[in-house]
Amino acid sequence: MSSHPAADQSPTQDELDLLHYKSRIDRPVRIKIPELQRDERLRHVIFSGQFNADMLEELGGTADKIRVLSKIREGQDFLIKLLHHKRAMLYFTQPSTRTFLSFMSACQILGITCNEVRDPTTSSETKGETRFDSIRMFSSYFDLIIMRSKLASLAESCAYLMNDLDETGNRSVPIINAGSGADEHPTQALLDIYTLQRTFQFSDPKDSPVSSRFEELRKDHPDLTRGLSHKVYGFCGDIGRGRTVRSLVSLLTNYSNATIIFIAPDDPTLALKDDLRRRLIDRGVRMFEVDSFEEPIDGIPVIQKLDALYMTRIQKEHNNPSDEQHFAQLDLSRYKLSHDLVSRMKPYAPILHPFPRDQHFGEIPPEIDDDPRAMYFRQARNGMWIRAALLATIFGVDHQISRYYHEEIAHA
Ligand code: NCD
Repeated sequence: MSSHPAADQSPTQDELDLLHYKSRIDRPVRIKIPELQRDERLRHVIFSGQFNADMLEELGGTADKIRVLSKIREGQDFLIKLLHHKRAMLYFTQPSTRTFLSFMSACQILGITCNEVRDPTTSSETKGETRFDSIRMFSSYFDLIIMRSKLASLAESCAYLMNDLDETGNRSVPIINAGSGADEHPTQALLDIYTLQRTFQFSDPKDSPVSSRFEELRKDHPDLTRGLSHKVYGFCGDIGRGRTVRSLVSLLTNYSNATIIFIAPDDPTLALKDDLRRRLIDRGVRMFEVDSFEEPIDGIPVIQKLDALYMTRIQKEHNNPSDEQHFAQLDLSRYKLSHDLVSRMKPYAPILHPFPRDQHFGEIPPEIDDDPRAMYFRQARNGMWIRAALLATIFGVDHQISRYYHEEIAHA
């Protein structure tokens, strides 16, 4: 009798490899942070919890400089030489458009050569190679691995694999998490924060619908300040399964007096997960969970209270058959924007979305795109600048960018 491999219950080497890192994975993020750095510099990017407000400010500043330099020929020539001796592997085994392309563009701005594996059926994983062997092979040919996987802890485990290789005198390269299962998407959170930083500077009309009216607006909104502190942030839609929400919320806890409102169905799959709720409570964040934009907080409907709104799509690819039935009973239309709702938002409040938006569900119908508060296309482009800033920081050329910028642009 022949035994079918699916009937074999013994763990695969891939599973054993992941298990090997389990005790390290189970530690709190703050303990792991030093291991993700080298010589006090960022090395692996795995969690958004690795970033504090100062680092976010620095990264945003570097992104701003790259953005300005990229607009002039001399600046482009300077940037493209900075890392032209480096090669990156983009190992994306989950679908991606923006993250993949913006990382690739960010590499190109800095002269980094890119290669990609997007479909594991074209790699030796179909011949039985473990993911960890694949990663180690990539590290032999490339200087950086940017990876997206449906396995929540794969990127983190790969960072530990690289550290172990380093300790034994082997070749080791930085790992960047470009989306890990339902858990984290730290570089998306960086671009979201960068978009908020630029919008809440109230200085560039492309970033802020009210840039020239900031002082005038303060008559109606006397508490309005520049910056990310003292703001009310709304997150709407599939909060339970959105990794971008998890990562961004954790970065927002770096800012004083940030209020976070989750607008999601009262449903165990779609509502806020316990671990994130606990983390927010432990950090003393003012937080609300409501099931509609109309629910009052301090006597005012949520939609009118928000300083920024982060929309998400319902992640239906993760539905199981019972979800389908169950969601059909819920009124999900409450988690879609309409002209009427947007018209009641504060005039300066940006609307963000990590994208893709779902044309079938329609959480942001295209007619909202012309509203000056619709910031999502600009947000996606910001991904390229902040990712270039991140790569420059990892490879230690951020100070060179700053020096060049001050000598050639600021003092010119
Ligand atoms: C998101 C993702 O893949 O987590 N997209 C992205 O990277 N910008 C969000 C999503 O798929 O809904």
